[in-house]
Amino acid sequence: MTKVLCFANNKGGSGKSTTAANVGYSMAEAGKKVLLIDCDMQLNLTLAYFPEEQVIEMAKGDKNLFYAVKNGVELSKVITPTPYKNIDFIPASTLLSGIEFELFTKWQREFILQNLLASTVASGKYDYILLDAPPTLGGWTMNILVASDALIVPVEASPWGLFGLANMLEFVGQVKTVSPGLTLLGVAVTKVDTRKNYFKQTLEALNAQPECKAFTTYIRLDANVEWSEDASKPVGAYKKNARSAEEYRNLTKEIMKRCR
Ligand SMILES: Nc1ncnc2c1ncn2[C@@H]1O[C@H](COP(=O)(O)OP(=O)(O)OP(=O)(O)O)[C@@H](O)[C@H]1O
Ligand SMILES: [Mg+2]
Repeated sequence: MTKVLCFANNKGGSGKSTTAANVGYSMAEAGKKVLLIDCDMQLNLTLAYFPEEQVIEMAKGDKNLFYAVKNGVELSKVITPTPYKNIDFIPASTLLSGIEFELFTKWQREFILQNLLASTVASGKYDYILLDAPPTLGGWTMNILVASDALIVPVEASPWGLFGLANMLEFVGQVKTVSPGLTLLGVAVTKVDTRKNYFKQTLEALNAQPECKAFTTYIRLDANVEWSEDASKPVGAYKKNARSAEEYRNLTKEIMKRCR
């Protein structure tokens, strides 16, 4: 059965896109069929997989998420292959900046993305569909959460990282009134700087709250992540033995285990 997971947190820069890109890659490495969907007008997930010129072209054309939502096109029609085995992709468009306006005029607006994704989910073609959410908590993120079975919240190991998490979980509570099946799969701590001690406090605070379901694996800062993004590749494809690539593999194992 296809599992739809989203990476969401209204705190900007918490590692959503990087985690989605690399968890997706690790799932594919493990032999799973994966569909990645970039739901953010910043195009970061798309840039993690395709060179900039191609991203700009895709964002303008009719094979992207904004085009599908605006025109009511089933998402199966806007899927693009990636250079990697087992991974398909739906690119974003900068036009997603106007998505709230598009939703406003539509009937049953919380369910638009879920409905457009339904035939792809039902086809069983993918083991996992991963959605990268923008750092906002509006009607569009509501759509992303409603379309998902579970969410993963990447949290940066910083003082304000945990503050943002509280807002996010409150929003999830609201979404559950529309989509009661939505579950929190877990909180993933990212961008850990082991040269500083602060991250330990973040981990302790999270572990003291079992309802946050913190994953055991945390992701440390690694320059290879930035270089891989610069090269439009997931870190495991950029440098197979990079420390972060191994950490993403471990996090992915935990995620897949919780999905069973
Ligand atoms: N493990 C890591 N090591 C080094 N840099 C990282 C790591 N994870 C993320 N980054 C960097 O941190 C920045 C923010 O990460 P990312 O874009 O994934 O966050 P985000 O939550 O998706 O941001 P936004 O809220 O803007 O969508 C990026 O520049 C990325 O390169
Ligand atoms: Mg992002």
